[in-house]
Amino acid sequence: MRVIIKKNYDDCSIWVANYVADKINAAKPTAAKPFVIGLPTGSTPVGVYRELVKLCKAGAVSFENVVSFNMDEYVGLPHEHPCSYWHFMHDNFFNHIDIKPENINILDGMAADLSKECADYEQKIKNIGGIDLFLGGIGENGHIAFNEPGTSLSSRTRIKRLTKETREANARFFDGDLEQVPRLALTVGVGTIMDAREILIMASGRHKAEALRQTVEGGVSHMCTASVLQMHQYAAIVCDDDAAGEFSSRIVDYFKDIEYSELDFD
Ligand code: PGA
Repeated sequence: MRVIIKKNYDDCSIWVANYVADKINAAKPTAAKPFVIGLPTGSTPVGVYRELVKLCKAGAVSFENVVSFNMDEYVGLPHEHPCSYWHFMHDNFFNHIDIKPENINILDGMAADLSKECADYEQKIKNIGGIDLFLGGIGENGHIAFNEPGTSLSSRTRIKRLTKETREANARFFDGDLEQVPRLALTVGVGTIMDAREILIMASGRHKAEALRQTVEGGVSHMCTASVLQMHQYAAIVCDDDAAGEFSSRIVDYFKDIEYSELDFD
C-alpha cells in the first residue's frame, strides 16, 4: 500500500484531482473502451470534485468517455432529496462536467426490489469489464463505502444497516437530526471495491487519524474494513498531516521518502 501525505485538505484534493485526470488521459478512453471510475460522496471528496470541474472546464480532462459507479446510496430517499447521494453527485460534480448521463450509475435506494437493484449493479460492473480506479473516503470507524465494522471482507453490493456512529456522523447533512438519517443503505461490498484495478482512499482531519492508523499499521480485520486494502496490489491512501497524526514516525518518514518514486507502489 502507498500512503501519500500532504500538508492540508486542499493539497490532497489538488493532488488527487490531478492524479485522476492523468489516469483518464493516459487511458485515452473511447466510447467502446471507456475509463471506469468508482466515486464516493461525503465531505472528503468535495474538494476533488471542485478541482476536477476546474480541470474539465480548462480542457485538461474530459469525462465524455468515462463511466462512473457510485459507492452507495441511502434507502428511501428519492433523487431530488437534498441528502440523496444522487443529488449530491449532480450538485457537486456531474452537472458541471461533460459526462454523459447514461454513463452515470448510482444505486437506486427507492427501487421496488432492492436486492435485484444490487445484483444488477454488480452485473453491470462486470459487464463493462470492471472498475479501473475506485476513489473512496474512510469513516471514523474504518468503513469503506458503507461497509461497517463486522462486514465480510468478501461482501458484494447489498443492503446494509448503518451503525449509530455512522448515522451520527452523517446527521450534519440532515440538519443535525439523527432521526432523519436513514437506517439502511445500498452499498458496494468490500469485495466489489477490491476487484477494482486500483483503489485510492482519501482522508482529512484529526478525526480520521485513528482509523487510518488501524488501516495501515493494524492487522487486516473486518472490524476496520479499510484495512483490507493491505491485500490489494495497487491501493493508495492520500491524507493530510492531521489524518496522518497517529502514524508512527518511521511510517511517515518512509512514505514521505518514497512519495516521488514510481516504484514501490505495492
Ligand atoms: P466523510 O465520510 O467524507 O463525510 O468524512 C467518509 C465516509 O464515511 O466514508
